[in-house]
Amino acid sequence: MSYSYIMPVKHIQETTIELTTLLEPMKILIATEKPFAASAAKEIQEVITHAGFTPVMLEKYAHREALLAAVEDAAGLIVRSDKVDNEVIDAAKQLKIIVRAGAGYDNIDLNAATARGIIVMNTPGQNSNAVAELALGLMVYAKRNFFGGTTGTELKGKTLGIHAFGNVGRNVARIAQGFGMNIIAYDAYCPDEVMLAAGVTPVHSAEELYRQSNIVSLHIPATDETRRSIGRKLVSLMPKGALLVNTARKEVINEEELIELMQERGDIRYATDIMPAADVRFSELFPERYFSTPKKMGAQTAEANCAAGVAAAKQAVGFLKDGTDKFRVN
Ligand code: 3PG
Repeated sequence: MSYSYIMPVKHIQETTIELTTLLEPMKILIATEKPFAASAAKEIQEVITHAGFTPVMLEKYAHREALLAAVEDAAGLIVRSDKVDNEVIDAAKQLKIIVRAGAGYDNIDLNAATARGIIVMNTPGQNSNAVAELALGLMVYAKRNFFGGTTGTELKGKTLGIHAFGNVGRNVARIAQGFGMNIIAYDAYCPDEVMLAAGVTPVHSAEELYRQSNIVSLHIPATDETRRSIGRKLVSLMPKGALLVNTARKEVINEEELIELMQERGDIRYATDIMPAADVRFSELFPERYFSTPKKMGAQTAEANCAAGVAAAKQAVGFLKDGTDKFRVN
């Protein structure tokens, strides 16, 4: 079964060429500068084709122009961290739905989409185990002195502070329990009972979290409220030997303040999956206390790509077929 563009009747009567256009299935563009695993890309295309739409893959595109051109006649758009700003939305004349295959949708201009009547969704929870596993990996790596051959310390018995107890934070807690860590969490929007049921001790301010934690793992989204909110005021409260792990967003860090603080306190380490704007400075100043992955790797597993990508494909076709808008964020 295929779905057609809705065209005004006067156009339908005009030419046979336009009739051909009318019968063409709607296009769903999968634009991923950082591609999905091949197995995931295959499954995503199958879901879209099976539902009667045409999947179009735009992977590893080097220039923005490629995205602007490809999106022109797409009814649906699936992205990862790809920037979907006003210019992209403007170029997408047929666009009805954007699905962010992942959790954070700070890469999408929601106001611009809403102004055009375009629905935006995310796929919460689908890649959270992958991100959580990487967070624990970064903790082990940093606590073992970045595998440099010197004596490190263990996670067992240390206090882990989880900053925001959403899908990723909850998976971090579950895995950290296996390491024998003492786990506390702060989340202004999560009831204590949810944390207690997960074996996690709630604390009631960010200050309290940082004061008590040997390691803090960040899981806050990038919003107006959180941008540049993690800096001197909080990190300076951490006990000696502190480790800050960021698998959330680089924007939540106040980089200048963190650099200053790490210069003053030689015991603080920073391990991140999102390269800071000041990566070169961090690397030069703290070669033994700082690590960043070259490209965000948290959700980069075959399993997470498949789960998030297939969910995104199902949500896009579900909306285009019958208006299902679960996980809508605008
Ligand atoms: C997310 O928000 O889902 C994660 O940050 C993963 O992002 P990615 O799809 O760009 O790897």
